[in-house]
Amino acid sequence: MLARQAEQPVTGTPADKNPGALRGGAAAGSSAAAAIELLEPSLTLLPGYVAALESGWSPNTTRNVAAEQLAAIRSDPVAALRDIAHAEGGMRRSPDGSEVPWLPGMVFWVWDGTFCGTINLRYVRGSQQLPPHVSGHIGYAIVPWKRGRGYAKEALRQLLLRVPGTGLRYLSVTCDEYNVGSRKVIEANGGIFIGARPSEEQPDKRKLHFRIDVRA
Ligand SMILES: CC(C)(COP(=O)(O)OP(=O)(O)OC[C@H]1O[C@@H](n2cnc3c(N)ncnc32)[C@H](O)[C@@H]1OP(=O)(O)O)[C@@H](O)C(=O)NCCC(=O)NCCS
Repeated sequence: MLARQAEQPVTGTPADKNPGALRGGAAAGSSAAAAIELLEPSLTLLPGYVAALESGWSPNTTRNVAAEQLAAIRSDPVAALRDIAHAEGGMRRSPDGSEVPWLPGMVFWVWDGTFCGTINLRYVRGSQQLPPHVSGHIGYAIVPWKRGRGYAKEALRQLLLRVPGTGLRYLSVTCDEYNVGSRKVIEANGGIFIGARPSEEQPDKRKLHFRIDVRA
């Protein structure tokens, strides 16, 4: 799919920030379920992602990766997209600079007619466990100009529909202790609070741990 779309231009567009461009005319008061869908990263959709990076938004919440992803996209969009989509395993640099194995998984772009954010699932095939450098099975980030519309809650709901088939019986999900919005997103999707522990990435901070049971 990536190779098929290699001819698409890779440019950012500020139109992505225009709330009036919502698909189907969705506006305040319409449900997030009707407004968003999860789409696989593609060169066709890449301009919206680039525009979000150019605004300084980062899909990674522990480290701002905007500049390095922009540089990679400008140098080789197809390879960069393959990386962004976690299509392959390999090694990645963690916040402390060490090289760690990268888990393959699913990455989706949250889309309401324009780019709204990312959500991903990462897991070790055949295991419930995650390596210590991976804080949870799920990661998500909504661009600032699309927050507060129920998009993260709905994106997680839609992602959970895709988890049966992975073999996972439950998901371990974490958020920073004071991330009220993220906690609400997790709990609205069946997250059961397990406890709080120091963060692996930032030991001076605590992470809240939740479990979401996977429905068959
Ligand atoms: C956390 C985040 C994903 C929420 O996205 P969002 O689309 O605005 O969330 P939703 O609109 O689905 O809101 C879910 C709930 O959280 C509440 N909420 C959202 N942001 C909030 C905030 N900053 N403070 C308090 N409550 C907040 C909403 O009011 C809503 O509450 P409700 O269920 O009572 O209606 C978004 O702020 C973000 O991307 N933050 C940076 C990255 C991040 O923290 N990712 C999570 C890592 S674990």
